[in-house]
Amino acid sequence: MSFDLLAPHYRWMEALCAGGQLQRCRTALLAGISAPQQVLVYGEGNGRFLVELCRRFPTAQVTVVEASAVMIELARVRLRREGIADTQVEFIHADALTWQPAEAAAFDLVVTCFFLDCFRKDQLQQLVPFIATAAAAGAQWLHADFQIAPAGVRRVCSRMIVGMLYAFFRWATRLPAHELVDVVPYLRAAGFTRWERREFLFGLLFCECWKR
Ligand SMILES: C[S@@+](CC[C@H](N)C(=O)[O-])C[C@H]1O[C@@H](n2cnc3c(N)ncnc32)[C@H](O)[C@@H]1O
Repeated sequence: MSFDLLAPHYRWMEALCAGGQLQRCRTALLAGISAPQQVLVYGEGNGRFLVELCRRFPTAQVTVVEASAVMIELARVRLRREGIADTQVEFIHADALTWQPAEAAAFDLVVTCFFLDCFRKDQLQQLVPFIATAAAAGAQWLHADFQIAPAGVRRVCSRMIVGMLYAFFRWATRLPAHELVDVVPYLRAAGFTRWERREFLFGLLFCECWKR
């Protein structure tokens, strides 16, 4: 799996498919998050969320775990262009399935925006508790993703759109996942409780804040 080939096209494809809705979804709950000191961001991509995170919390130290070297370079360039200090963000070019922080329970904010949808159910069963070991007591977890509507025309449309997205990403990146998996049971089992949720694009996108 690699997003390297797709990375240079990710921005315009996002704009074409969703306008500003994905970015609205990623950043909608930032205002309600208590200022973190140590943030762990998984699968950041090209840095658009990262810029907003760093602007809102200029004293936070941010660690980004990202498997695509091209995405990391795009995010670095974007941060520089936006005048955000290199020292605020540490990029780790690694596979989230195996990377472990040097210290357990060190992060007070975890971010997974449109990242957990990259994994199969059997991988998420391991990955979510694995990520949770990096989160401190009282940590917040900002999560955003796609969802299938529960019923009606919206269900038909969302299934079709999500199905097409998986077909495309599996072809373009060799993504292992082929369907959305509900991660709520894994977050709950890891001791997190949901305290805020919003939806975008007729309910196709959601963002949530969880707290331990
Ligand atoms: C669908 S993109 C989402 C990017 C961005 N977070 C967003 O909101 O659009 C998934 C990102 O996660 C990264 N990624 C996928 N699998 C990964 C893994 N196993 N370890 C680390 N990063 C991974 C990809 O390189 C890509 O940048």
